[in-house]
Amino acid sequence: MRELILYYSRAAENYFGGSLKYIEKGNTEVAAEKLAALTGGKLFQVKPVTPYADNYNTCIDQAQKDLRSNARPAVKEMPDNIEQYDLLTVMYPNYWGTMPMHMFTVLEQIDFKEKTVRAICTHEGSGMGRSESDLKKLCSGAEFKKGLAIQGSSVSSCDESLKKWNESTK
Ligand SMILES: Cc1cc2nc3c(=O)[nH]c(=O)nc-3n(C[C@H](O)[C@H](O)[C@H](O)COP(=O)(O)O)c2cc1C
Repeated sequence: MRELILYYSRAAENYFGGSLKYIEKGNTEVAAEKLAALTGGKLFQVKPVTPYADNYNTCIDQAQKDLRSNARPAVKEMPDNIEQYDLLTVMYPNYWGTMPMHMFTVLEQIDFKEKTVRAICTHEGSGMGRSESDLKKLCSGAEFKKGLAIQGSSVSSCDESLKKWNESTK
């Protein structure tokens, strides 16, 4: 199956088990690159036109505001030639229990008929939250595989679980 790995990730100040830390590469991006190395899937990063703030607390507020207003924040570009992929792996951080609203912007514009969708959510304690049920609403017509939750602060050691999950869902 030809795979597109569609992901959102934010490299900046974030919360890691009790303290704030500035990271150069987001947790979801680290996991997305590991998956691409495993499967050969094509990576596509969802980039906001106006990124959330580097400051963690400001970002938290901005993301909550977008969630509460059911916003569809603009993204820089959409993936090309989506029809050439059979498998879409959707990867994102848990933001307030679901995906960042930018993922809603993108997923709403894709035709999921005859596509298989599987999700990976990085988080800091809430697992996938309600993101999978939101995904199912957005990706109507797709066949769904079981999702994977990865603790963001432990992403560097997710290789084994990623490999097992990939084997069981491809
Ligand atoms: C705006 C915002 C909201 C978040 N909300 C949650 C949450 O509700 N539950 C949770 O477990 N983690 C939450 N987190 C933590 C992230 O999901 C986690 O750190 C993730 O790995 C970040 O991925 P990234 O580095 O690829 O952006 C939140 C982080 C941010 C910045």
